[in-house]
Amino acid sequence: MNDTHTHADSSQGLPSFSDWMAQVQQRTESALAGVLPDPAIAPARLHEAMRYAVLGGGKRVRPLLAHAAGELAGASAADLDRIACAVELIHAYSLVHDDMPCMDDDVLRRGKPTVHVEFDEASALLAGDALQTLAFQVLAERPLGADPASQLAMLTQLAIASGSRGMAGGQAIDLAAVGRKLGREELEFMHVHKTGALIRAAVLLGARAGGALGEGELDRLDHYAKVVGLLFQVVDDILDAEADTATLGKTAGKDADHDKPTYVTLLGLTEAKRLADEMLDDARRTLRPLGARALRLEQLADYVVHRSF
Ligand code: IPE
Ligand code: IPE
Ligand code: MG
Ligand code: MG
Ligand code: MG
Repeated sequence: MNDTHTHADSSQGLPSFSDWMAQVQQRTESALAGVLPDPAIAPARLHEAMRYAVLGGGKRVRPLLAHAAGELAGASAADLDRIACAVELIHAYSLVHDDMPCMDDDVLRRGKPTVHVEFDEASALLAGDALQTLAFQVLAERPLGADPASQLAMLTQLAIASGSRGMAGGQAIDLAAVGRKLGREELEFMHVHKTGALIRAAVLLGARAGGALGEGELDRLDHYAKVVGLLFQVVDDILDAEADTATLGKTAGKDADHDKPTYVTLLGLTEAKRLADEMLDDARRTLRPLGARALRLEQLADYVVHRSF
């Protein structure tokens, strides 16, 4: 993974990537704060746990991808805020459950004690449940996108991406794989489901909220989304092996400790990094015909590979 940055966004009069990213992160933070129930409303402890799990941390990669794809497709910022919230709520729920003792048994997340440590296990379980249903509420409660049919398609797509044929299924495969050696195809299948599916949904829901893309362009975005979804988990595996706990905000080295098959155990660090670079090239090539409109998506693919946590 080399660190070359080739974009001169300022010459095009656009905000720099880091400014654009900060803007989307900020608007996502306020949108999330707005949809999460106030702890003043009963049951206060559950609402506190939900807010604790979601607010004030995380890179917001899925919201960033939804906004980047949506901007490209001409979606409204208000619709994209709701899509960004929905995918981030599903993601936050998946982290709360992923950290529980029955799964990865982690005590640190986003630089803070995990939800079951700060609250208790039942609260973590219920906070995850309620975050998941809130995601669908946010998408469903008012008209979204071009028409009711496209709104229903978005709801269906997020449900499939989160369920047993998507993220939850990938998590089941992950747990069943502890202590086993997986082949390349099995490992890819696991990663594509546990992490790739939701990232893909973030891109496709964003794109679907605008109407400005042709069939061929949507196929291109879909290929990009699949590559970046898998790439995200390949880099997560690399960081787990290479970075330190303070930088990650979660316990480093836990994949090896828990005897999890990862791209690092399968390929070794050097080869896993080479694969990440290769996938980044694939993502970039895929976007090329979309031209300057795809700048943010290209920058995000680059960020996914070169991120430090
Ligand atoms: C961590 O996701 C879990 C995986 C799916 C690899 P992120 O790396 O996006 O975590 P946050 O949201 O930034 O904390
Ligand atoms: C988690 O993968 C994927 C999810 C669906 C949450 P990991 O177990 O590798 O995520 P981290 O490393 O704990 O963030
Ligand atoms: Mg896990
Ligand atoms: Mg984990
Ligand atoms: Mg990990």
